[in-house]
Amino acid sequence: MKRQVKGNVYWVGKIDWELKKFHGSEYSTHKGSSYNSYLIREEKTVLIDTVWMPFAKEFVDNLEAEVGLANIDFLVQNHAEVDHSGALPELMRRRPDLPIYCTANGVKSIKGQYHQDWDFHIVKTGDSIDLGNGKKLVFIEAPMLHWPDTMFTYLAGEAILFSNDAFGHHYASELLFNDLVDQDELYDECIKYYANILTPFSALVAKKIKEVVGLNVPVEMIAPSHGIIWRKDPLQIVTKYAEWAADYQENRVTILYDSMWDGTRKLAEAMAHGITDTAPGTEVCVHNVAKTDKNDVITDVFRSKAILVGSPTINKGILSAVAGIMEEIKGLRFKNKKAASFGCYGWSGESNAVLNGLLKDSGFEVLDEGFKALWEPDTEILNRAYDYGAEFARHV
Ligand code: FEO
Repeated sequence: MKRQVKGNVYWVGKIDWELKKFHGSEYSTHKGSSYNSYLIREEKTVLIDTVWMPFAKEFVDNLEAEVGLANIDFLVQNHAEVDHSGALPELMRRRPDLPIYCTANGVKSIKGQYHQDWDFHIVKTGDSIDLGNGKKLVFIEAPMLHWPDTMFTYLAGEAILFSNDAFGHHYASELLFNDLVDQDELYDECIKYYANILTPFSALVAKKIKEVVGLNVPVEMIAPSHGIIWRKDPLQIVTKYAEWAADYQENRVTILYDSMWDGTRKLAEAMAHGITDTAPGTEVCVHNVAKTDKNDVITDVFRSKAILVGSPTINKGILSAVAGIMEEIKGLRFKNKKAASFGCYGWSGESNAVLNGLLKDSGFEVLDEGFKALWEPDTEILNRAYDYGAEFARHV
């Protein structure tokens, strides 16, 4: 059902309460999500983005009922990842002549996914389309925020920025606007989204924010493609993005590990005590990465000034859960964070060297060779692990 956003702008998307995993199984969506599509009804009627494929039929049926497919003048596809373009095959089956406005990379992306030669119209930054009634769409390319095809669309006359994934979050809510939802939940989902999806593109985020702010146009709402619409103080999320893009860190240390027979876990906990006793203001987060949601771990890493990574040695290497999270961490290219390794071993003890190499490859400043414990840690070794944590706290 369509819901009014502002003036003649309506939300016509889909709230997905059931979604628990996104991007395959890569991203946990504890609070569900939404695929936001918007309809502008001026002299011209424009659809901005569609919804994910499983909801294609109900989405297009709703459009038919609410506005009539024949009455839509064109579609703006800000970004063609399948969660926003998945309803295109159904929509275009029923409106094959519908013009699609997108970037040049958007055409490549849509053709690559759907293998159709629809009526594409390529737009670039600064291009605009008059909608009548004093309203105008202006396009702003935003490559790699977070795909090469991404663009923003600004509706002049209503001062709404349709930002697609940027400023979005996976958060299902019927309440539509930011001022109506739980602010802590909203913040948690926004920072998780940035940490897990946008971190590698932080330099581009900072540059794009500067460019958009430099346009000096009013922004009364920011309408992303997931989650709620920023209506109250919409620039608050832009300010947050600027902070997060600037090698963000809090006074937080995250300890992540996996353990076979609990020795490495005991080291992790002793180090956590050492850090806390030495630097009581530091938030210490301890995660067994084989048991904790990996996106929540990544969010804590994003918020941390330093991390400790632990694994016992197995087959001259590290446990697979730790290797898995380190692969994610490497891809996210965190900056300006310190790190060290720890782990138990019984005979050869290669885990520290492996972890140190992974941490260096991932851009962390590795403080030393790490902490190693032969066999099961006894009280003396746990005291040394405590001291190691205390020393770590003094250096981060
Ligand atoms: Fe929400 Fe990049 O898709």
